[in-house]
Amino acid sequence: MRVVKKIKEMKKIADQLRKEGKIIGFVPTMGYLHEGHLSLVKIAKRKSDVCVVSIFVNPLQFGPKEDYHTYPRNFKRDKKLLTALGVDIIFYPSEKEIYPEPCLTSVQVKKLSEGLCGRVRPGHFEGVATIVTKLFNIVKPHIAVFGQKDYQQAIIIKKMVKDLNFDIKIIIAPTIREKNGLACSSRNIYLNEKERKEATVLYQSLRLAKKMIKEGERNSERIIKEMKKLITTKSSGKIDYIEIVDAKTLAPVKKISGKVCIALAVFFGKARLIDNILVQSG
Ligand code: PAF
Repeated sequence: MRVVKKIKEMKKIADQLRKEGKIIGFVPTMGYLHEGHLSLVKIAKRKSDVCVVSIFVNPLQFGPKEDYHTYPRNFKRDKKLLTALGVDIIFYPSEKEIYPEPCLTSVQVKKLSEGLCGRVRPGHFEGVATIVTKLFNIVKPHIAVFGQKDYQQAIIIKKMVKDLNFDIKIIIAPTIREKNGLACSSRNIYLNEKERKEATVLYQSLRLAKKMIKEGERNSERIIKEMKKLITTKSSGKIDYIEIVDAKTLAPVKKISGKVCIALAVFFGKARLIDNILVQSG
């Protein structure tokens, strides 16, 4: 396992691997790895000859009042986990290496970035699309794996890859959950014991929504109302949003048809947790 910190070196390795006909699988991360990340790595490994994982906390995707400076970091632990999984390369650049001067170019995926988390985190997805583009140009992968937990992000990256003609296959991998249903997230570290217990209501509310749809309910408003009732009666979570959107376009749907994504963001203390579920309405 190799740790590469310089862009020039990473590009040179990627060029050589491509020359040798090797398939490069890539998982971009911000580190502080959990089971969710590890499941993405396992998929990337299965589908490639050489697996690269990047660890970079990207300042561009954090708002001025968000947790960039306190975002959890532990490279030593991450390295150990990735070594155990047989990852070939960790790309671990410094902020200076990635942004040696102010970045005047950005990638914006319109429309898809505007709703859901984009509404409350202006600039976030532009920051994500920009860093992912840079990482794709540096790591030169054939395949990249993203988690369904960040569904809006994954759909945005898929569209960006299509619009900008990247020769990269994007795989969206299922959300990994703790036994109690809580979706794995680096930000779960912010939860105290009580909040961690209460936050299990999020997946319960998503399952309730799925059950309502499977039983024939097609009115989004009625489903969202029941989800809100469950979350507010069973927890102290402060709802940021709950929305039902078309799974492809991410446009809100009033009357459910086809495949939808039920997505939510809820604050527990200082942790803003997101989760979602995909439902085929028949
Ligand atoms: O999902 C993440 O961890 C980040 O948004 C990503 C894709 C690594 C870009 O910084």
